[in-house]
Amino acid sequence: MPARKRRKPSAAKAPHKAWAGRFTEAPDPRAEAYTASLEVDWRLLPADIAGSLAHVEMLAKCKILSLAEARKIQGGLRAVLHEWEQGKLAHKPSDEDVHMLVERRLHELIGPVAGKVHTARSRNDQVALDFKLYLRGETEHLAGALRLLQRSLLRLAEKHRDWIMPGYTHLQTAQPVLVAHWLLAHLEAFARDERRLWELRQGSLEDLPLGAAALAGTSHPIDRQFTARLLGFARVTDNSLDTVADRDFALEFLSAAAICGVHLSRLAEELVLFSSHEFRFITLSQRFATGSSIMPQKRNPDVAELIRGRSSRLNGCLVTLLTVLKGLPLTYNRDLQEDKVVVFEAADILDETLLVLCPMLDTLRFNRERLEQACSLGFPTATEAADHLVRQGVPFRQAHEAVGRLVTWASEADIPLESIPLERWRAFHPAFQPGVLGEVGLRRSVAAKRSWGGTAPNRVAAALQRERKRLGKI
Ligand code: ARG
Repeated sequence: MPARKRRKPSAAKAPHKAWAGRFTEAPDPRAEAYTASLEVDWRLLPADIAGSLAHVEMLAKCKILSLAEARKIQGGLRAVLHEWEQGKLAHKPSDEDVHMLVERRLHELIGPVAGKVHTARSRNDQVALDFKLYLRGETEHLAGALRLLQRSLLRLAEKHRDWIMPGYTHLQTAQPVLVAHWLLAHLEAFARDERRLWELRQGSLEDLPLGAAALAGTSHPIDRQFTARLLGFARVTDNSLDTVADRDFALEFLSAAAICGVHLSRLAEELVLFSSHEFRFITLSQRFATGSSIMPQKRNPDVAELIRGRSSRLNGCLVTLLTVLKGLPLTYNRDLQEDKVVVFEAADILDETLLVLCPMLDTLRFNRERLEQACSLGFPTATEAADHLVRQGVPFRQAHEAVGRLVTWASEADIPLESIPLERWRAFHPAFQPGVLGEVGLRRSVAAKRSWGGTAPNRVAAALQRERKRLGKI
């Protein structure tokens, strides 16, 4: 499609629209340009043709069209698709949307019989069908891309399965965890995103809207179940009014996209943070970093920052469509045309983001020394000392308080917990046993988190195995 052009107003010509019967004047070119959606819905063309092919097949089966008519129309539809695929399908300012474009071109190719394609159908149910068909492909594609992302994360986790890093709450050092555990945490969020897309794919995207016609159904003896079977839909929608007004499936897609954007953004934020000089936990490949135009020393994580930034637009897309829909009376209103702008934008953002994030993760390096160094700061194993007292029968609150005082002292003395002599420990609580010195070691602390879902190496190993089984060959 060429870039948006400003069309100059020109003198009214004879009506040239498919719906022109009721009109004696041609539309003002500004109104025509304003209402046109071809630039946006151009990509729906394959879906539009697939829908029309099935519709015509059904019309022939129900004897609403003759077989000869149906075959002629179907041949013409395939020719239009071929032109589109070859980049040879021309469009005119009067092509209001992709549906009108197809019909206009069909007419040019096969003559007046083209007019029969729209029997027992309205653009209102047609566009709902096209949109669903498009989203069926898009959800499958994006679910696949999310799977690749999970595989990238799993590969990284396998590679660093026994490396330790600080875990954070409030962005303050909390407890040591395995790097693999941290990576699997992000992986799980993306697994939920993938599942949400499949739920949509197998949920509302299995309900065929075609056959609701403009809003009330049709007087022609159509067979909606037959069309559903042809197009691979499990069910047909019920109420015709709801069918042409319903965009829940688009909302569901946008909400899944926005939630996924939250996860992408959080991962990106950690990549930015952890690649900073202050952390230096990770190094991003030069191929996914950019320089500064003034500061020669810089290598900036712009790709990660843009993932974080661009995901905001996913929120915007969802809020836009919610706002478009909330005040609409039943049934079809032209406002609904705005739905595709935001759904396509969200799909494109997710697609391009997943495309760049996978190789960025594949080329990322962890800095083992820095990770362990960071673990030795901030007393991340203090909870172990409290748990040690609890095992001696001390109530947890009392243990917490004693270790808190001990940490204050150790922090001022600038001495790590493992290096504090036992007498010192006992000065803060007499129940401390010699074993505490081993228990506050980093590896011991990690190994102790054996509860289901915890960061102990055997738990993480089992989690890795589960993921490998679920994700297949990585
Ligand atoms: N371009 C329109 C849309 O995307 C198609 C349906 C138009 N229907 C109508 N009655 N004007 O919503």
